[in-house]
Amino acid sequence: MKVISVVGARPQLVKLAPIAAAFAKSDHEHVIVHTGQHYDADLSDVFFSGLGIPDPDVHLGVGSGSHGLQTGAVLTALDPVLERERPDWVLVYGDTNSTIAAALSAVKMHLPVAHLEAGLRSFNRRMPEEHNRVLTDHCADLLLAPTEEAMRHLANEGLAHRARLAGDVMVDICLRIRDAVLAGEHPAPVLPEGIDPAEPFLFATLHRPDNTDDPERLAALVESLAKLPLPVALAAHPRLVARAAEHGIKLTQGNLHVGRPLPYAGLVAAVLASAGVVTDSGGLQKEAFLLERVCTTVRPETEWVETVGTGWNVLVPDPHLLSSEEWAATVTRTAPDADPGIPYGDGHAAENVVRIMEDWEGGSRRA
Ligand code: UD1
Repeated sequence: MKVISVVGARPQLVKLAPIAAAFAKSDHEHVIVHTGQHYDADLSDVFFSGLGIPDPDVHLGVGSGSHGLQTGAVLTALDPVLERERPDWVLVYGDTNSTIAAALSAVKMHLPVAHLEAGLRSFNRRMPEEHNRVLTDHCADLLLAPTEEAMRHLANEGLAHRARLAGDVMVDICLRIRDAVLAGEHPAPVLPEGIDPAEPFLFATLHRPDNTDDPERLAALVESLAKLPLPVALAAHPRLVARAAEHGIKLTQGNLHVGRPLPYAGLVAAVLASAGVVTDSGGLQKEAFLLERVCTTVRPETEWVETVGTGWNVLVPDPHLLSSEEWAATVTRTAPDADPGIPYGDGHAAENVVRIMEDWEGGSRRA
């Protein structure tokens, strides 16, 4: 079979790595289309080189813009590619504007669509990602769910007949890179100036529009990070840097030290070296969980509820509304005794994905 993977943003490149490796071991044809939603080398190129992903076969070069502009640009650019390639499957990943655009382009051409990481829900309708994932699930033919919880959400929405439990491909890559980092196969990560890796530090990221786009909120969150009792290494996403500059908010202040986004192995190494993680990223919450570091998530809810149940992840939507002591105590808490279990699978999800796609007949519109 011929499968086209459409990716565009950093978390999709991480998921693509184990999928591309699994297809490389099969006799299927796997074509990679990069939409160009993320174009900075830090968010894109280093993931291809660092994770051994083959170069994209097609690059759409859409770049940044409003949601409508970005989504529309992917749709416009992808139509002729899918028309030419006529794949057996279009595989879309996660919840970005590239995901929904690729799914829409494909279904309207009657090309079967498989959605990797289907069934995740935050139930927060302010998040652009929530609309992207819900709409993609409802138009896709095959829903590849990472967890039992995701399977339940799909069943609740009447989509059980199109859903299969595949496990989480991020476990595949995270554990593989963890082992390589621990074996000394990767150079030490480039941490921000002011962070001494030999001393305890926290690792942080912040990029969700709900946290970055309102200047008052962003200033309050930055202050909360700056007053933590340990040095904080902030790997700053371009959205954060752009919004902070726009609103005149200084990111390097107090205990907060700012650096560039890290390549994947650098991120895994930084989390392993850290005393804990503070983030609003979906992927990083789970990576902290898999790497057994406590995580504090600056959001009112999470799609990865399994990380919260055992206490490895704690949600703090408004750190600036807590006392400094309570905030510090939460972030620097000791790791729970509870066994985290393996809610995200055993690290063989990508192979499951290939097998499920090979076997699938139910949702195909090819007939
Ligand atoms: C996107 C995804 C989000 C994912 C995140 C991971 C959507 C709606 N959001 O959010 O689900 O968690 O990627 O990073 O698709 N920018 C650059 N260089 C780049 C990319 C972006 O400077 O390479 C800047 C642009 O100014 C842009 C801003 O960052 O306005 C936001 O980029 P965008 O792709 O809209 O969303 P992300 O916040 O990255």
